[in-house]
This record gives sequence, C-alpha cells and structure tokens, in this order.
Amino acid sequence: MLRLRVRRRNNLRSYLQKVKTCLPRGVVTDAAEAARRDRSGEKDERRTLDTLLLQRHEQAERSVLIGCQSRTNEKKFLKFLSKHGDIKKHFFYETYGTYAVVEFSSREGVSSLLDSAAIPSVSHEATVPFKSRLLSLRNLSVVDSLSQKPGLQCQPQTSVPINKLIQKLSREESVDRQITSLTDVHQLTEENSRLRFLVCSLLRDVAAAYFPECSIKPFGSSVNGFGKLGCDLDMFLDLDGIAGWNLKMPKSGLFLEYQMKRANSERAVTQSILSVIGECVDQFGPGCVGVQKILNARCPLVRFAHQPSGFQCDLTANNRVAMKSTELLYLYGELDPRVRRLVFTVRCWARAHSITSTIPGAWITNFSLTVMVLFFLQKRSPPIIPTLDHLQELAGPADRCVIDGNNCTFVSDFGKIELQSNTETLEKLLSDFFEFYAVFPFNTASISIRKGKEQNKPEVAPLHIQNPFETSLNVSKNVNATQLDRFVALCQESAWLFQQSKSVSPRGSDTPAPWGLATLLLPSQVTGVKSPKRRRREPASERIKGLLESLKSKNQGKS
Ligand code: GTP
Ligand code: MG
Repeated sequence: MLRLRVRRRNNLRSYLQKVKTCLPRGVVTDAAEAARRDRSGEKDERRTLDTLLLQRHEQAERSVLIGCQSRTNEKKFLKFLSKHGDIKKHFFYETYGTYAVVEFSSREGVSSLLDSAAIPSVSHEATVPFKSRLLSLRNLSVVDSLSQKPGLQCQPQTSVPINKLIQKLSREESVDRQITSLTDVHQLTEENSRLRFLVCSLLRDVAAAYFPECSIKPFGSSVNGFGKLGCDLDMFLDLDGIAGWNLKMPKSGLFLEYQMKRANSERAVTQSILSVIGECVDQFGPGCVGVQKILNARCPLVRFAHQPSGFQCDLTANNRVAMKSTELLYLYGELDPRVRRLVFTVRCWARAHSITSTIPGAWITNFSLTVMVLFFLQKRSPPIIPTLDHLQELAGPADRCVIDGNNCTFVSDFGKIELQSNTETLEKLLSDFFEFYAVFPFNTASISIRKGKEQNKPEVAPLHIQNPFETSLNVSKNVNATQLDRFVALCQESAWLFQQSKSVSPRGSDTPAPWGLATLLLPSQVTGVKSPKRRRREPASERIKGLLESLKSKNQGKS
C-alpha cells in the first residue's frame, strides 16, 4: 500500500511539475487535486460509476422540468414553487423555449406540486391525459413583461462552434493548455448531466405504465466521462431489478410463480418490449417527437428526439455489455487526467475533419476512436493505463460479472490499481498519437485493449478493433478502406503540421493566428483541400517518412 502511495505521488508530482508552467495561477487540475489528496493522506474519494449513477438517479427522481418564459421573474417563480417543498437546486436553459430544472429536497415536494397542476383545457384539440413531471408555467403574473431587466440567466447546453474554439485555443500559452481548454469547453456540465438523468427519469415514468419496477439508465458518452455537450443520450431499459428473478424455488412444499407470455428468444422479448414502449413514447410521451422503432438492428432500439431537452435519444433494452463498456471507459478516464483530455482532443480533431459523423455509415465511431486512444496510452513506455487483462486480475469476488457467457469482470476499486510513473506531457502524447497511427500496421494487426498489444487480425476488415468484452467481435466492422485511408492520411498530415506549428507562441493580440492544436482543427490545412500552397508540398507519405526518420535519428542521438 505504502509502495503504491509513494509511486503514485512521484508519478503525479513529476507530471504536475511539467504542466505547472503552462497553467495560469489559481487553476487546480484533477492531477493537482489528486496530488493534494495524496499528500494529506486523505482517502481516495473518486466515485465508482455505480455510486455516481445512484446519486444522479436519486436527484432526478426529486426533480421536475418546467417550460416557462425567458422573462419569468425568478424570485416569484421560486416563491411559488417553494410552497410545495424546499428547493435544493434549480437552473434555467434554452432549447425550443425556456425551461427550468427544479430539484426539490424530497419527493413529497414533487408530489405536492403535481397534485396542484391542472390538465390543460384546449378548445379545438383533444388531450391525452398522461401526467408526467414535464410541466408548463401558465401564470402570467410571474412574467416581467414590462421589465427592463435582462431575462433569466440560462445555462449553455451546447458547446462553442469550431471557429470560436479555434480562436480561444489560439490565445492559450501552451499546447497542454490548449488541450485542457478544449476539454473544459466540450465536456458535459453539471447542469447538462442532471438534465440527462432527468430525461431518463421522465421516460421511466412512461415505461413504468407497463413495468412499474423498471429503471432507465443512461450509458455511453452521457456518463462515461467522454461526453461532449450536444452528444446523444443512450438509455438502457433495465428490467433486472424486477423482484422475483432470483427467487429460489423451495425444494418442497407449495409455491407460486407468475404466468407469463413466452417468446422464442431473448431478442424477440427485447423487440416486443421496445416495440410497445416505443409506441407508448410516440403516442403519449410528452415532448417526445420523431419516434423511430429500429427493431431489426443488432441491438434493437427506439430512437426519438426529446424536444424540451434538445437530446437525440436512443432507448435500448437488454444491453448489459454496453453498460459494462461504459463503466470500463469511465474507470480509465478517472485513472489519469490525461486520458480524458487526449480522448476529447482526438474526438474533436476527428469531427472537425469529418472522420467521425453523427450519421451512421462507414465512419470510425467515437467509441472506436476512444478505444484507439486507450490502446495508444497502454503502449506508452511506461504505460499510462493498465490493460483490461490486468484490471481483471485485480478484481475481487464482488466484481465478478459474466454476461451471456462473456467475462466482463474487472476491478472496481480504484485504490487497487497501481499506475506506473509516466510523466509525458499532453503535447508529446498528441504528437505521438498521430505518429503512432500514421504508421500502424492496420493490414495485419488488431487493436486490443484487453492485451494492450497488437494481435493478429482474425478477419479481413480494413480496421480491426477487438470488442473488449465480446472478444470475437470487431467494434469497427462498419469502417471501410476509404475511411481508414482518410484517417491514416490525416494522422500523417497532422503529425507533420503539429511539428511545424506547435512551437509558434501566440502574439499579444486579441485574435492571434491559429497555432498548435488550433492549426490541427482548421479544415483548410488538411488532406483533400486543394490550396495552392499545399500543392507545392511533397506527398504526405514522403513528408511523414522524412519526419519519422528525422525523429528517429534525433532520438538515437540522445541515447
Ligand atoms: P457519442 O454518442 O458519439 O458521443 O459516443 P458514445 O460512446 O455514446 O457512442 P454510441 O452512442 O455510438 O454508443 C453508446 C455506447 O454503446 C458506447 O459508449 C459503448 O459503450 C457502446 N458501443 C457502441 N458501439 C459499440 C460497439 O460496436 N461494440 C460494443 N461492444 N459497444 C459499443
Ligand atoms: Mg452516444
């Protein structure tokens, strides 16, 4: 234990020393916080994903979503609501209209509020009298229509446009600061995260019409720590909590069991449940529009837009392996602050150059990209994060988890994970990421975060990334040769471009020229864009070869 503490402390201290020079005074990084905890001997209080989910879920159950007007008088609004109970937190945001998320201290507050709400009376239309915690504020006396005061202060729910981001990054002092700043701008805010859980909770109320004991859990980037403002909301309808699954039949005597419909397969059950719930969401779900039932996909789902939150939603059922992948990604992100920052940066870079897309197709998905970053970090010397096999070795009996015959076991206690002393800066890691994948033997090798080493490619897909838990599957099966080539060419270009631009420090102007990471996000700088300047350059492959040669000889010179 002592050895672990000392190693961690040394690891963090030297990393911090490297990044300290890049930080403005007063900025506390995750790593700085971890180092402070370490010094003071405080317990490691990083929360497991389960703890976080429980807390958020509980908050959401005590919350309501209220459509109001931008000129609502906040004070009068809160006074009106507090008649029903203490308000713990509230915030406003804008999507298709202005909304307030209001969290009461207890569920009684919500019940009292709902008891006081009326069913709308509309003269020319009929109403489905489905009650939910999505309400509208109708009393005009709380609206400052004549007031000169500015409207409500709304919390942003979308990230800044790319051109603004480029300007912001160009003003930073170092590449490491640029990467941290990009992460800060993109990552989900506290409010956005609460809203995501509230939408799950509202949807649970719809599904509860059929399955009163069900829960709806978010997974994927909404909770794995890699979510960007505006990302979709992946949800999982969990029926495992229904009492009776694990009730043991007594060896003798009388007992009862429920009479239930049977189906040919689990898949058929999932499809029929999603079909009915999808129908219910479509017909009765307040705020849910554009419902599509995609039941023949490998993982059947219901897709729709939740208008009041602005989220694009995917509801699945029986998708426990994806929940485990989410937990694994969350754990890796918590182990070292560089993991999330590098993932955010690579995702943003890929999106800026249309390597990824929100439309399904032959693109590399964000999930695949994340696994590629994790693999790269496992390949550092010394590795920044451990392999999945190692996390499995560290698991205790309570961590054991087998889903449909797949071993999904890995350690959940952060304290048991011993990190090695790697102090590389983000700048170095980003630069090496491009170089690593610019020359990766995609033809023969498969990427495996389970082993942390290239494996022989078991199939002839252009890109093979082993599914961490269903190891016979390829998570990037959808990627075609053209998309992989584009990725490799972009890595080559970016490696070269980054070498050229990373040392250009910003001048003292308000709008300094793009440099460092900002240059890499400029669409005109990369493959496929025929600017006259770029045509004069030698081909990308030649440049990258030259660059790698020069790097190799530099390194040899050092040793
Ligand atoms: P964005 O939505 O693009 O921000 O990222 P995401 O991580 O949420 O990806 P996506 O919505 O495509 O998928 C949601 C989650 O499903 C992922 O985080 C994974 O946990 C899981 N997932 C997605 N694709 C695959 C796949 O091909 N194989 C496996 N095993 N899991 C996947
Ligand atoms: Mg997603």
